[in-house]
Amino acid sequence: MRYVDVGGARMSAIGLGCWQFGSMEWGYGKEYLEKDAIEIVHRALDLGVTLIDTAEIYGFGKSERAVGRALEGRREQAFIATKVFPVLPIAPIVEQRGRGSARRLEVDTIDLYQIHQPNALVPLSSQMEGMRRLQQSGLVRHVGVSNFSLDRWRSAEAVHGSPVISNQVQYSLASRGPDRSGLVQHAADNDRVIIAYSPLAQGFLAAKYDATNAPGGVRGFNSLFLPENLERGHELITALREVAKAHDATPAQIALTWVIRRKNVVAIPGASSVAQLEKNAAAADIELTDDEDSRLTTASDNFNPISGPAAVPKLLRRRLPF
Ligand SMILES: NC(=O)c1ccc[n+]([C@@H]2O[C@H](COP(=O)([O-])OP(=O)(O)OC[C@H]3O[C@@H](n4cnc5c(N)ncnc54)[C@H](OP(=O)(O)O)[C@@H]3O)[C@@H](O)[C@H]2O)c1
Repeated sequence: MRYVDVGGARMSAIGLGCWQFGSMEWGYGKEYLEKDAIEIVHRALDLGVTLIDTAEIYGFGKSERAVGRALEGRREQAFIATKVFPVLPIAPIVEQRGRGSARRLEVDTIDLYQIHQPNALVPLSSQMEGMRRLQQSGLVRHVGVSNFSLDRWRSAEAVHGSPVISNQVQYSLASRGPDRSGLVQHAADNDRVIIAYSPLAQGFLAAKYDATNAPGGVRGFNSLFLPENLERGHELITALREVAKAHDATPAQIALTWVIRRKNVVAIPGASSVAQLEKNAAAADIELTDDEDSRLTTASDNFNPISGPAAVPKLLRRRLPF
């Protein structure tokens, strides 16, 4: 495993995303929550994965509880990141929700507490005041944000008056917004970290889905799995397959390797099995050449999926039974 040190924190370059734990929208079922999730966390720790990402909203607390159960007796091996879902995130509510997360996680300290989404209605000063109180009480070590623009991230840090070390955003070869908006560069230049969520584009970059075999559940709303986009992804998927072959690796592993090759970027793939977790952790040890990196970046630049309003009628058509 490789580790990234930023703002006084150390986390594994490949982490584990735990949205899948207990979340009906992923459809992995009860046994996955009660058995597989625990085994996935244990194996992750065995392999040196320290960054374990969850949120109070995932499975309405079930994910945090599963992480708590899995970390029993092994808490010190993990860097626990969770998130407050910002419904009326005024200071006392942020404080109360942080304590609720710590209880479900069965820990005295949350390593990284993140604001899950921007909330434009509640002043950032009040949200960050809640974070500051949690830090002062020792319940929270580091503070982060998620889905924040660069300007909003900087503002959060300015009102907080001390480092907001991370911004968790969607970032992968299929989703390059953080490169274009300067988020990735900002993290690299300022001792901050980008935590890349959906680094496999929810499985799109694993090169295993096609028009006749697209995933359902929450991914039924992901426009990348529209037949047109699976078709448009041909160059990118081909590049992943070919680079993977040269490393005796899988396309999913190469997709992760590309993400964490950027300075101060870590990735938190979810996993539906222990085998996937093992592959994902091993991606940290793959070394891409500069040529391979450029080839993947170019294929990603050329990928132009249908998205936004243009994708909505197609997504609806796919989900309606007529
Ligand atoms: N802050 C936010 O707003 C936000 C939003 C989304 C996610 N997140 C976080 O980011 C984490 C990851 O994002 P995500 O779950 O959306 O997407 P992801 O990590 O890109 O995709 C995860 C899915 O890809 C498949 N997969 C994983 N490893 C694989 C491998 N080695 N080979 C082939 N397929 C593999 C699995 O699905 P199948 O096996 O079923 O195909 C798995 O459930 C979440 O768990 C959550 O912690 C945060």
